[in-house]
Amino acid sequence: MSIVTENLTKTFNGLVAVNGVSLKVTKGTIFGLLGPNGAGKSTFLRMICTVLRPTSGHGSIEGFDIANDTNEVRKTIGVVQEKLLLYPTLTAIENLEFFGRLYGIRGKPLREKAEALIEEVKLTSVKDRPVGTYSTGMRQRINLVRALIHDPKVIILDEPTNGLDPQSVRWVRDYVKRLKERNLTVLVTTHDMHEAEELMDELAIMDRGGVLAVGRTADLKRSQDVATIEDLFLKLTGRELRDEVSSRLKRRGW
Ligand SMILES: Nc1ncnc2c1ncn2[C@@H]1O[C@H](COP(=O)(O)OP(=O)(O)O)[C@@H](O)[C@H]1O
Ligand SMILES: [Mg+2]
Repeated sequence: MSIVTENLTKTFNGLVAVNGVSLKVTKGTIFGLLGPNGAGKSTFLRMICTVLRPTSGHGSIEGFDIANDTNEVRKTIGVVQEKLLLYPTLTAIENLEFFGRLYGIRGKPLREKAEALIEEVKLTSVKDRPVGTYSTGMRQRINLVRALIHDPKVIILDEPTNGLDPQSVRWVRDYVKRLKERNLTVLVTTHDMHEAEELMDELAIMDRGGVLAVGRTADLKRSQDVATIEDLFLKLTGRELRDEVSSRLKRRGW
């Protein structure tokens, strides 16, 4: 197994954001976390990325414990967060080199790796321009390969197609498939049902911090007697609207 969690739980001031999530992700597969806003998807990812410490429970990536082996875990994973993690005034090359140096890569190997990744995302002709001048789709392409600069075995992506134009969405989905072809393990969140249908080998459907269903996409549809993931999702999570408000603003009385 590439990723294993047991009863992973995170509480924020009494709010249970992730409630006892146990998952197993097989090496070389695309595993999708689906859930409405506020389901706990991002919090779950932040815990396994070693950004947040779990309140209770355990997790490991490629055998490294997320609480005790944080350095090894960080070297093993490449993370694409919801927010772009790029410096707008730096060029594409400078951005990739900056992140590469954080992993201890230097000199010619770093330059060659950065250039190869930029070539892969077809941005070589603009590689010396500040990424702040790029379109959203171009930035997301650089943001995706930034996560690959240190040759990770596992890629974790939080809603990577959110807010992109249809061409960029297509590109990101094809790119995720290519990661799998290279035998990387991919853990990805989405609330796009078409994306889930197209990409995911296995799924976990989350709601209110817990997992409602987990398994191979085809098996889940069969066992719940539904034709599509959208039907499965609505059957399990219900049809009422989920209006999510940031807890920080809520506390300030907004
Ligand atoms: N740092 C935090 N402090 C307090 N509450 C948080 C924090 N991060 C997330 N939450 C809350 O935890 C719940 C799950 O959030 P999140 O993991 O972002 O869900 P999702 O990514 O599925 O939309 C939400 O109710 C959210 O408001
Ligand atoms: Mg989220």
